[in-house]
Amino acid sequence: MTLHDEIARRRTFAVIAHPDAGKTTLTEKLLLFGGAIHVAGAVKSNKIKKGATSDFMEIERQRGISVATAVMGFEYAGCKINILDTPGHEDFAEDTYRTLTAVDSVIIVIDGAKGVEAQTRKLMDVCRMRKTPVIVFINKLDRPSKEPFDLLDEVEKELHIRVRPLAFPISNGPTFKGVYNLYEKNLSLFTSDEKLTADASTIEIHDLQAPELAQHIGEKFADQLRQDVELVEGVYDAFDREAYLRGELAPVFFGSAVNNFGVRELLECFVRIAPSPRPAPTESRTVEPQEGKMTGFVFKIHANMDPNHRDRIAFLKICSGMFERNKNYLHVRSGKQMKFSSPTAFMAEKKSVIDEAWPGDIVGLHDTGNFKIGDTFTEGETLKFTGIPSFAPEQFRYIENADPMKFKQLAKGIDQLMDEGVAQLFTSSLNGRKIIGTVGALQFEVIQYRLEHEYNASCRWEPISIYKACWIESDNAEQLADFKKRKHTNMAVDKHGRDVFLADTNYALTLAQENFKDIRFSFASEF
Ligand code: G4P
Repeated sequence: MTLHDEIARRRTFAVIAHPDAGKTTLTEKLLLFGGAIHVAGAVKSNKIKKGATSDFMEIERQRGISVATAVMGFEYAGCKINILDTPGHEDFAEDTYRTLTAVDSVIIVIDGAKGVEAQTRKLMDVCRMRKTPVIVFINKLDRPSKEPFDLLDEVEKELHIRVRPLAFPISNGPTFKGVYNLYEKNLSLFTSDEKLTADASTIEIHDLQAPELAQHIGEKFADQLRQDVELVEGVYDAFDREAYLRGELAPVFFGSAVNNFGVRELLECFVRIAPSPRPAPTESRTVEPQEGKMTGFVFKIHANMDPNHRDRIAFLKICSGMFERNKNYLHVRSGKQMKFSSPTAFMAEKKSVIDEAWPGDIVGLHDTGNFKIGDTFTEGETLKFTGIPSFAPEQFRYIENADPMKFKQLAKGIDQLMDEGVAQLFTSSLNGRKIIGTVGALQFEVIQYRLEHEYNASCRWEPISIYKACWIESDNAEQLADFKKRKHTNMAVDKHGRDVFLADTNYALTLAQENFKDIRFSFASEF
């Protein structure tokens, strides 16, 4: 197969959702269809169980398991599908945001009873920013759900994206009858069977007026379906794939993941419409997947939680060309040539050494602490991929060395944990003290524990009252200098030496934004 063919058949995506909407369940069903697993329950979910929030070791253990399922590849209908897993726990949202930089499209799962939830909104913001094509799967129709048209309106309004249903449910809850596939014009009747791998109960009905419709779902629901479909066709424009690929239009499916219902329709449509690897922006130019030379970037680093094996796995997304085992590549940041004797690929049930990989694929590289998120590998060109976000942290503490003999170990530990993207380090301009900022409170415990166990260093936290950190930039040098002077006590620098304003309160931030019009305040920076 040529490079072109390999690219064309690849679909690299992530399933994202508010916790509990059914992301893990849907992922598992997709894997069942792909034959990547054979029994339900085989995927060790990286879902962090409810109630585990106080036990961060349990969370880390579960995250450890998730290394194996971080990327799950399988073949379906001639396509090589790569599903990238994302942590469900809110405190690890940054991890999810970064994973979104490595996918070419996403499937968003929404609970039909709850509608759009907080985390769905945030994740969609990232997709919108990156113009990632999204498909929406409205789940749990076997439970009493909101009305389908209300759900469609809610998705459109809350997620700021046009929608186009490609399937439509027939009732929900105890009277859920099935889903009418508007794309293929056939009817799938609801049967509850968790082990189903191929949906046997699809009935072809090309004419909704045909009397046989009522034989299957009853007169009342047949009438309702006819009305609903008429309304759909009247209200929504025909599905426009180009608009979907531009990230402007989301096709919507309805179903019940746990009952494996509506999942086949979703997958069939997905392989047909979802994009193959897309061009990737760098600081100097756009890299096309078809380019002959290999390029790729590290979007995630996962530490090994086993204290006997401190090494880490860096996840490399291939952006162009063919990646080969034992071939020399340039690690752009260090300028060093490196080759990898045991790059791994991740299939659902096992990790295996691979000889080659193609654009869209994710390769696991063994790392002894040399790599950072955002690192680029090429065949010699000096490139830096852009757009890997680092979000403004919302929780802050001073970090202090609790053991003066272990100063070096602490510095090294902090450095490496920051490279992994666990948290962000700021240095106060006022007193030179180190401040750690995280997205969730849990990370402080994780950092302390890992410093102790992996780096033999100990730290102490001290409170600091900061509302938000934002990066500031301006073309007006005078105003910037004035701002930095006046806000001296609230200024810091990040690990790259960029200016960061640590606002005490929302009020202080708003005031600063109003008074210093030439300064750009940003809440996300790039690695
Ligand atoms: P998440 O990864 O998005 O957090 O969600 P997950 O798939 O773990 O699903 C959350 C809960 O919702 C699970 O129940 C799961 O069985 C259930 N669920 C998923 N899809 C459907 C569906 O289509 N219909 C119904 N009725 N339930 C669904 P749980 O009790 O929290 O866990 P478990 O003990 O069943 O694993």
